[in-house]
Amino acid sequence: MKKFLTLATLMIVATSLFAACAGGNSNQVTGLSGGDGVTIGVSMPTQDLQRWNQDGQNLQRLLIERGFEVNLQFGGNDVPTQVAQLENMIASGADVLVVAAIDGDSLTEVLGQAESAGIPVIAYDRLIMNTSAVTYYATFDNFLVGVLQGEFLRDALDLPNQPGPFNIEFFTGDPGDNNINFFFPGAMSVLQPFLDDGTLVSPSGQTAITEVATIGWSTENAQTRMENLIALNNLTPGGTPLHAVLASNDSTANGVTNALITAGFTPENFPIITGQDADIVSVRNMIAGTQAMSVFKDTRVLAENVADMVAQIVNGETVTINNTTDYDNGVFVVPTYLSVPIVATIDNYRELLIDGGYYTEEEIGAN
Ligand code: BGC
Repeated sequence: MKKFLTLATLMIVATSLFAACAGGNSNQVTGLSGGDGVTIGVSMPTQDLQRWNQDGQNLQRLLIERGFEVNLQFGGNDVPTQVAQLENMIASGADVLVVAAIDGDSLTEVLGQAESAGIPVIAYDRLIMNTSAVTYYATFDNFLVGVLQGEFLRDALDLPNQPGPFNIEFFTGDPGDNNINFFFPGAMSVLQPFLDDGTLVSPSGQTAITEVATIGWSTENAQTRMENLIALNNLTPGGTPLHAVLASNDSTANGVTNALITAGFTPENFPIITGQDADIVSVRNMIAGTQAMSVFKDTRVLAENVADMVAQIVNGETVTINNTTDYDNGVFVVPTYLSVPIVATIDNYRELLIDGGYYTEEEIGAN
């Protein structure tokens, strides 16, 4: 299908509709038409993490249900692989691209090819930076994810009422993932005042986003850094107390947990650890008492939103968005649809994840 408007035209239509739309909550793309043989290229970062497998499979199924053909690829957390896969999709005539970037700064050139070919691009979960080729962005409220983690720690330690000091260490994700620029400041918007007044103390002194980043969001890298932090300040059950660890997601939380178990911590004296994604391993850790919370982002909801966006683009319908202010990719503020993240804990995981049909009892129970 080569009936798409050029991106420039899309943006003109989008801009005029923003102006016309008082609530700023919808965006119209006109002149496209669906039909047989419409192919959607879906580029996911990796199969290493549970969530991206779920994202890829859900989205593929929903797009097929809507009558599209799907070319789903996983980039193996390797930027050149993702770029090559995208080049392939463009060359083989994909009509729309949905891309969860491995590194949001590394796709400018390849997406320039998509733009030249008039192929709309939806940034999936992670914003793609420094390009005008992104047409829409769909994600969860990433700042709110961090706020929920920070508030959880604040309330669990009762920071407003306790003198402390409580010892805390910080872990966020990959520096190439723009999401950390929302997750981490979101958490710090709650926790920084308590660091400033001494209620919270970081024994390592590492509180800047550059110091607490985890390359590739990797469990192993987080584990190695936690082992170093433990050694640096003797953060052991009999040594310097460690009350909390802010981990931006579950893969980093798992690395922290592994290091703490090796250092001799048990569920009885475990620090309060946050996470994100409600991965199976982390749900098991919550049940075991070695992770206190995770932020659940229902990948079914995100995939549904994106499948709708794709269909709206293809059919020339109003594209649903609800944020036109927060996601500046360095070239423009990308029209965005945000979904709402939810706190998962030992108290609500059953209702949220099992009754909600996200996992079966067996998946959570199986070891
Ligand atoms: C996603 C998180 C995920 C992380 C690591 C982030 O961009 O928003 O849900 O845990 O990447 O894959």
